[in-house]
Amino acid sequence: MTPSIASRRLLLAAAGASLLPLRTNAAGLLATPSQTEGPFYPTAFPADMDNDLVQVRGQTARAMGTVLHLEGRVLDLEGRPVEGALVEIWQCDAQGLYDHPRQPGRERRDSAFQGYGRLLVSADGRYSFRTLKPVAYAGRSPHIHFKVATSTGRMLTSQFYIAGDPGNDRDGVFRGIRDPRQRALVEMRLVSAPGLEAGALATSMDIVV
Ligand SMILES: [Fe+2]
Repeated sequence: MTPSIASRRLLLAAAGASLLPLRTNAAGLLATPSQTEGPFYPTAFPADMDNDLVQVRGQTARAMGTVLHLEGRVLDLEGRPVEGALVEIWQCDAQGLYDHPRQPGRERRDSAFQGYGRLLVSADGRYSFRTLKPVAYAGRSPHIHFKVATSTGRMLTSQFYIAGDPGNDRDGVFRGIRDPRQRALVEMRLVSAPGLEAGALATSMDIVV
């Protein structure tokens, strides 16, 4: 698993940097940076929009691609779990195709991939999705879109990337996050997770809103 927020905080403290005004608290917990929603947020939600995007209810086929177990917590700047937050994710299939009217070649998309999922976090702020390791498509490095809405009305829209992906440095959206400390909050460190599922990867990403 990747560094928890606690260990990230230690890393951030060790870095000792003080660059731009960032949303933070005295303990140095940074807010997850926001990113564009992009053009592919669903215009209609799938019938099945649970947190398992790899398996669509009623279908026997499993989505093409490498399974990724994405989990973490939704926290506030004090590090407290944000109970009742709604987390949504959406991404393209293993061929780089979204389930969206603006997607050229949409008819070729993998119908076994749900493409979108949502859940309410548990009382300890935890969320988890079974989805795909994201792939690149024209002009973009691999990413997973996400949105968080809290019960107090705070909203965050952003994207997760794969840490170390060579495409990140060429991706204008990713590069829009200038501060390496903020980048670290959206860079997924992928590890193999045979204990969860054969051939699957896993990552732990806390979201600070
Ligand atoms: Fe995208």
